[in-house]
Amino acid sequence: MTPHDDSNSAATDHRTALITAARDAQSAAHVPYSEYRVGAALETEAGDVFVGCNLENANFSNSLHAEEVAIAEAVKNGHREFSHLAVSSDRQDGVTPCGMCRQTLAEFCDDELVVWCDEGDLSDENTDDEADVTAIQVTEYTLGELLPNTITEETLE
Ligand code: THU
Ligand code: ZN
Repeated sequence: MTPHDDSNSAATDHRTALITAARDAQSAAHVPYSEYRVGAALETEAGDVFVGCNLENANFSNSLHAEEVAIAEAVKNGHREFSHLAVSSDRQDGVTPCGMCRQTLAEFCDDELVVWCDEGDLSDENTDDEADVTAIQVTEYTLGELLPNTITEETLE
């Protein structure tokens, strides 16, 4: 294997690990109304990972989004430097952070934050074995792409 292949596989492993953390976080979601589970995994510059899931409310307005819960968990534990976010729904439909979550992320993260959105598994077409997953399909954005030119702390200086 060439050094180039090595770095590709390290990048794939990184993506797979963070998407898997976002998928796992969905198990704690409270979604009696939408039945749409979302998990988010936010990675600090130092490599720590904080996860969140959506928590809905009977009044509908008070629902917490997975990304909000993940960032609250990270910030309350003293972390303010983030490099990557993975987001996944139980439909593996490539869901992206909503507008509100993008703004919440922009409060704590640079435009360069890498956002990975879960598009599902790419399975080996030559087998019926569901466990034979060859790769997780991801769409990659940066926070700056998802929310350009927004208001930040600097705007108010
Ligand atoms: N949801 C999130 O958790 N994150 C987003 O940014 C998109 C939407 C949740 C909120 C609600 O519980 C469900 O998905 C349907 O909108
Ligand atoms: Zn949101």
